[in-house]
Amino acid sequence: MSASVLDRHATLVQAGELRPDADQVKAVSALAKVQSKLEAAQARGSSVWRFLGRKPEPARGLYLWGGVGRGKSMLMDLFFDSVQIQHKRRAHFHEFMIDIHARLKAERVKEKGDPIPPIVAALAAEARLLCFDEMVVNNVADAAIMSRLFSGLIAAGVTVVTTSNRHPDDLYKNGLNRQLFLPFIDLVKESLDVIALDGPTDYRRDRLGSAKIWLVPNGPKATTALSETFFRMTDYPPEDRGHVPTLEMEVGGGRMLHVPKALKGVAVFSFKRLCAEARGAADYLAIARRFHTVIMVGIPVLGPHNRNEAARFVTLIDALYEYRVKFLASADAEPDHLYPQGDGRFEFDRTVSRLMEMQSEDYLAEGHGPR
Ligand SMILES: Nc1ncnc2c1ncn2[C@@H]1O[C@H](COP(=O)(O)OP(=O)(O)OP(=O)(O)O)[C@@H](O)[C@H]1O
Ligand SMILES: [Mg+2]
Repeated sequence: MSASVLDRHATLVQAGELRPDADQVKAVSALAKVQSKLEAAQARGSSVWRFLGRKPEPARGLYLWGGVGRGKSMLMDLFFDSVQIQHKRRAHFHEFMIDIHARLKAERVKEKGDPIPPIVAALAAEARLLCFDEMVVNNVADAAIMSRLFSGLIAAGVTVVTTSNRHPDDLYKNGLNRQLFLPFIDLVKESLDVIALDGPTDYRRDRLGSAKIWLVPNGPKATTALSETFFRMTDYPPEDRGHVPTLEMEVGGGRMLHVPKALKGVAVFSFKRLCAEARGAADYLAIARRFHTVIMVGIPVLGPHNRNEAARFVTLIDALYEYRVKFLASADAEPDHLYPQGDGRFEFDRTVSRLMEMQSEDYLAEGHGPR
């Protein structure tokens, strides 16, 4: 459907699906400008203009930043969907960087010098518009190449639109060798329009409402309550419950994890899948980075014979807590009666305490990301 993101947004507000929000209106008009430039550039790239020997001027990109639940991802999705050009790509930033490192590795094997230019050329040929959700930089490997990668992309005429919880100046804050990263910050400020989307309302928190976070006992009642929360948080029509997307995600070292339900940053797992199989910190950190909300069903009361499950559960909760992930669960007992005895019972106290804190208003109001 060809429509400006501006019109589509207005329609959603009129229909009552979105609440009126002044900051969102500002962001949408900025996105609409990018949209019309991109579409015009594609039109000018067609034969007549090329015949005249004029190169279409690329559209300047956007850096949309603000607190959690402000509607950044929602607006970017609407924008991405509205833009009528042939070559566009939307990626989760973390996964995009994993792809980049794989390409770097492949280029280095060829031993043909600087690996970045051929990667930039390939990416630019694949997409004129690159949209990233949740730009966050938390490792030196990404930090060290981002400036060259993105200046290459922008110079090649690729339009970059990204969301982030942080102002560009605060990206990779206190990171190792941050000086390697500073040119990227300059690049963002020079080449992208930096727009705050930071209104007073955390709409996600609103949607979570007064939903219970920890439901006891396991059973149909708890499952129904959790799935209602899932549908509310993801805007997914409950009638279509048979078709909720699944995800195969890489969790480090080439290992994969099947996520039975994954949508808009919310994942649903069973206790069995995450804690009864051989999984470890790397898997849990990958989950914590990727999802802002994890719903876990079927947590049993654990005994001495479940020491491995209990230890994995401790590691999982540490990872989720570290990244301020919202954790909703159904279990056969309240946290403090979950693991009455067994190896590591003492350490489990910390988990109990974290689980209590993770149900608090303060925790739930915090943004997703490393502490
Ligand atoms: N104006 C609005 N009215 C009603 N619901 C909204 C509005 N804006 C956003 N939402 C809803 O609020 C939820 C959170 O929005 P979204 O995921 O876009 O936030 P975000 O800014 O990307 O947050 P984060 O930084 O945590 O990724 C979504 O379900 C979205 O559809
Ligand atoms: Mg988001």
